[in-house]
Amino acid sequence: MTKSTISSRKLDHIQLAFESQLSDADQRFYYEPMLSAHPELNVIPSTTLAGATMTVPLWISSMTGGAEKAGKINLLLAEVCKTHGLGMGLGSCRPVLENSEYSRDFEIRKYIGNQPLFANLGIAQIEELIAKNELQKLVDMVNRLEANGLIIHVNPLQEWMQPEGDRFALSPLETVKRVLDVVDFPIIVKEVGQGFGPKSLAALLQLPIAALDYGAFGGTNFSKLENLRRESVERTLLEPVQHVGHTAIEMTNWINQLHTSLGNKVQCEKIIVSGGVSTFLDGYYHLQKLSMPALYAQASPFLKYALEGEAALHQFVEAQIKGLALAYTYLTLKENA
Ligand SMILES: Cc1cc2nc3c(=O)[nH]c(=O)nc-3n(C[C@H](O)[C@H](O)[C@H](O)COP(=O)(O)O)c2cc1C
Repeated sequence: MTKSTISSRKLDHIQLAFESQLSDADQRFYYEPMLSAHPELNVIPSTTLAGATMTVPLWISSMTGGAEKAGKINLLLAEVCKTHGLGMGLGSCRPVLENSEYSRDFEIRKYIGNQPLFANLGIAQIEELIAKNELQKLVDMVNRLEANGLIIHVNPLQEWMQPEGDRFALSPLETVKRVLDVVDFPIIVKEVGQGFGPKSLAALLQLPIAALDYGAFGGTNFSKLENLRRESVERTLLEPVQHVGHTAIEMTNWINQLHTSLGNKVQCEKIIVSGGVSTFLDGYYHLQKLSMPALYAQASPFLKYALEGEAALHQFVEAQIKGLALAYTYLTLKENA
């Protein structure tokens, strides 16, 4: 460092000192500065999902498709996955099922390389396929997208709040079981912003699925989003429903209890912690706390940076990886956190 850069840094210190007062320490971790040198980025343990390797346990939650800009966003997300070793779920692939003009938004295998890529469809569309005896269309869709498997999103409150929403004739559990009886590719089951209660979690853990994805309360909430699309009177009347649900922390505690109590009845392979995971430290917290193998996931933060462009998106992911490397090196979870 030159003499002039050192003196300008020292000047910054004097000017910024009063703005740099902090009193809110993160109470979840022990910080041990004495025991490690600075990490290499490869200190982060790699993981697998449905046989595909991820060098970082970070998943991009299902988002767009079927609208202007969506194809470009999916392409950017796929490329960032390939560069940094992440995995990604597509947004609802209904346009692919229906062979619409937007199907190409979802054809991103060539951009994501060998990273895990999952197609996505809602319970309502799957029920419809079951009713028409057309589950083969699911298989064709996953093959066409060269996806590693399928995410089934479970969204009874969203459908109920949606002015043009579908109604379920079967329980989502029954629908998922029927799919599992027929297909031989990996299945992930997720919510879309309300999370799952303990009985639903117990039922899901006992299914032979690749992962259970929280879609927890505390982040983007699709019941709220659908309600915002309603006329104002009805919107106000239905507003309390939006607040129903479970946070990721609540669900992580239940998963640990159920993992112990269900023992070898657990067939689900992995947990994906999503819904309001705002920083890599939140993600790291869950990865450390869960007794089952896990990834953490985000949707809206990726969308925010993808909308800003390629450079911003890469910077966002690089910052998460650097932060995770630091966390794996210097932070351990407190016993009661
Ligand atoms: C623009 C947008 C579109 C989404 N579309 C889907 C979808 O098609 N299928 C799905 O399962 N979830 C969808 N989600 C929900 C996310 O996958 C995720 O569960 C939810 O946003 C919570 O994550 P977050 O708090 O990090 O945003 C969407 C989310 C956003 C922001």
